[in-house]
Amino acid sequence: MITIKWFLPDLEATATAGAKLSKILEPGCIIMMDGDLGSGKTTLCKNICASLGVPINLVTSPTYTMVNMYSYNSGVIHHLDLYRLEDQNELEDFDFEDLIAVDGITLVEWPKLLRSLVGTQGVLNIKINYVSDGSREIIMSSHDSLYERLMN
Ligand SMILES: Nc1ncnc2c1ncn2[C@@H]1O[C@H](COP(=O)(O)OP(=O)(O)O)[C@@H](O)[C@H]1O
Ligand SMILES: [Mg+2]
Repeated sequence: MITIKWFLPDLEATATAGAKLSKILEPGCIIMMDGDLGSGKTTLCKNICASLGVPINLVTSPTYTMVNMYSYNSGVIHHLDLYRLEDQNELEDFDFEDLIAVDGITLVEWPKLLRSLVGTQGVLNIKINYVSDGSREIIMSSHDSLYERLMN
């Protein structure tokens, strides 16, 4: 189990964090993002996607659609926001492959009800904490050694 904490003093630091994350992501990776409304989950997703080559304006909050899909250089990204999901049973309306990009990258905001459906392999947990108007802290944890590369 690894745990890494980064302080993000401003939006530029969040962009850099997104770029660093994007560099180590491989097909099958799933990032679970927790944090209050307005903490910066969508902003971090935008930065990860932009670093992977998705035009940043295409990356919008999937609060109403629940799943947005973007293509990038090496495949597909699923961007989920499960805020409006009230019950895990509602996930049965989706095929697993509609939620998780099995051969791509999955970014999940409000992942609570999805957690039991995925294991720990390829999963990075990120908790975003509001520090001040412009700054945030992210705490990342994973059981997958793939993410040890984030420590360098
Ligand atoms: N360092 C920072 N990192 C991320 N977001 C920040 C930062 N500083 C200010 N913000 C602002 O906080 C807000 C985060 O909103 P958003 O990403 O939609 O949050 P969430 O998806 O968690 O609800 C945005 O308006 C963003 O510009
Ligand atoms: Mg959001």
